[in-house]
Parts: sequence; structure tokens; C-alpha cells
Amino acid sequence: MELPVYLIGYMASGKTTVGKLLAEKLGWAFVDIDDAFEELYGYTTGEYITKYGLEAFRKKEKNCVEMLSELPVQKVIYATGGGYPCWEDNMDCLKELGTSFYLRWTPEQLTKRLFISGIERRPVAKQGMLAAKGENDEEKMLNFVNRHLAERREYYEQADFIIDAPEQLHETNDEQLAEQISAIIRQHFSK
Ligand code: S3P
Repeated sequence: MELPVYLIGYMASGKTTVGKLLAEKLGWAFVDIDDAFEELYGYTTGEYITKYGLEAFRKKEKNCVEMLSELPVQKVIYATGGGYPCWEDNMDCLKELGTSFYLRWTPEQLTKRLFISGIERRPVAKQGMLAAKGENDEEKMLNFVNRHLAERREYYEQADFIIDAPEQLHETNDEQLAEQISAIIRQHFSK
């Protein structure tokens, strides 16, 4: 297994929470690429998108991932931004740099999790919802996520490992996912 490890998946799929738990379990470092972006450029990812647009954001995000990949540390878990793997050749780059895990949820689950974790700091989700059709916000968000995930799925599914989330939403879901991934990593390293 090539290191580092990249967690990928849609917004609100738990990349940050699972990543932190996973790093704790393994005793490895954890880096949230959205946080690194903020430190590097002085704007949160949401602020940057709102101010400069998505295209400019994607270029900076790519730079940020490239810079981080030059750090001389191997045992790191990175939580990527939800759209990162789906732009230009980013998924190919991730696959060359390390091992990727896709945290896969259904659009229904993601819609619920987006409202729980908050859409204010996620302009992509918020604007997508506002532009979508539906009787209420939940229905609009579901319609948006359905369409958006259909566009992104082909990239995410190129991950080295696909981790299906449990069917029932529960507060222990992220812990379960971290446990599943740490078991895979440990197995590879015990060989
Ligand atoms: C984005 C996801 C966000 C962040 C930015 C764009 C996207 O990260 O990188 O707002 O396009 O899916 P999270 O997946 O951590 O929400």
C-alpha cells in the first residue's frame, strides 16, 4: 500500500471526522486539506469560492495538494475537499501519490448529513440547493445531490478502496468507517 492515505467522497461524507479518528487509531498524522488551504491562502474554501469562483478555487486547491504531497512524511491521513478528485487529472494524481478510500453514501443519506453538518460554509451545496427544483429545502437538496453525485461518482469510484457506509444513519457511523479503514490499513502493513 502506497502512503499517504487520501479520504475522498462527497461533501458531508465524514472525511474529516473519519480521518481524525483513523489517524488516532493508527497513531499517524492527520491533515484536512480544506484547513491547510485556509492556512495557506488566508480564506476558508467557502470564502474563496464565494469571492473568486470555483475555477480559481480548483487551481489553488490543486496547488495546495501538490505542496502538501512534498512534505517528507508518509504516515498521514489526508481529508480532501469533496470536489477535488473530480477536477482535471486530480484523481490520477491522487492515485499516483498514495492510496485512496472513497466513503460512499447514498444521496438520501448525504442530504441528511449535509443539513446536520451545515451548508453555510459549503457554497457549492448551498447554491446547488437554491438552484434546484423542489417543494422544500430538503427536496431541493436531494435533487441537487442526486444530479451532482451522478457527475462525480465516476471519479470517486476510481478510488483504490470503496467503503460503503452503514444503511442506517447513526452517530456512530463515522467511528465504524474509521474502524473499517484502519483494519484494511493494518492488514496491509502486517504482511
Ligand atoms: C467542495 C467541498 C468542500 C470544499 C469546497 C468545495 C466541493 O469540502 O472543498 O467548499 O466542491 O464538494 P468538504 O467536502 O469538506 O465539504
